Amino acid sequence: MEGTSTGFPREAVATRLLAASVRTSYDPTVDIDWTAPPRPDAYWLPPQRSSLYGTALWEGLSEAQRIELTKHEVASAASAGLWFETILMQMLIRHYYDADPTSRHAQYALTEVADECRHSIMFGRLIEATGCPVYRADRVDHALGRWLKATATGPQMYAAILIAEEILDAFQREIMADESLQPLIRMVSRIHVVEEARHVRFARDELARQVESAGPVTLGYARLVIGRAAYSITRRLVHPQAYAAVGIAPEVGRAAARANPHWQATLRWSAQRIADHLTELGLVAGPGRLLWRRAGLIEG
Ligand SMILES: [Fe+2]
Ligand SMILES: [Fe+2]
Repeated sequence: MEGTSTGFPREAVATRLLAASVRTSYDPTVDIDWTAPPRPDAYWLPPQRSSLYGTALWEGLSEAQRIELTKHEVASAASAGLWFETILMQMLIRHYYDADPTSRHAQYALTEVADECRHSIMFGRLIEATGCPVYRADRVDHALGRWLKATATGPQMYAAILIAEEILDAFQREIMADESLQPLIRMVSRIHVVEEARHVRFARDELARQVESAGPVTLGYARLVIGRAAYSITRRLVHPQAYAAVGIAPEVGRAAARANPHWQATLRWSAQRIADHLTELGLVAGPGRLLWRRAGLIEG
């Protein structure tokens, strides 16, 4: 990893991000009131973002069950979030292993790992506070995650980071602005949005550099891995077991969600910014593009 002298754009970006990290960082263990009881009448997600919103199954649920479903959907997304953060931390540490520890770039990579450590603790406490189970990745995705965190470098590493961060970010920006929702999930979202804005800037900047220097074979392989990452992240957002919490058989709930035009629109909405960005960089193409379509993140 090059870029040790200040004045290079890479160092300038990292210097700015390090200063912003000093100005605005949170410690969720003390900055969140974990003892406050949840409001019984408040949703955990805007109801129209529930995977079953607008379906016959949704119509059959009471208001209390709908709130309960959004709580489990949030716990599922938090489980996916911390699973992915664990992968990401290891990828960044591997990146750091080859880096110049005196560079601001390397120091920012470590600062991001520190942020993610606090986020994963925050998501763990969020899951605990909801009383929901940890919704773990299935065996295939768990194995793919292990492979990604042990091997990914270059464009696919930063692209995978961005997909996970930007999809969650879309949901969280909406949640933090919606005063009708549970105070706990709004505060968790606010902390995550503020700190992730820096991660997104860092990864976008690094990705552009990696794409510029990559050859056609590397890029072809990257497109496939990126498509598979997009597919896994999307499929993992709502764990089918979440439906069982409101008396819906997991497979029935999952099939209804996949066929639900509201949910399809929500997925495309959540991925629009990152899909556009990666498309501009030429990273959503070839066979990898099929995976984006199968994940429901893009049309056509
Ligand atoms: Fe995070
Ligand atoms: Fe992050």
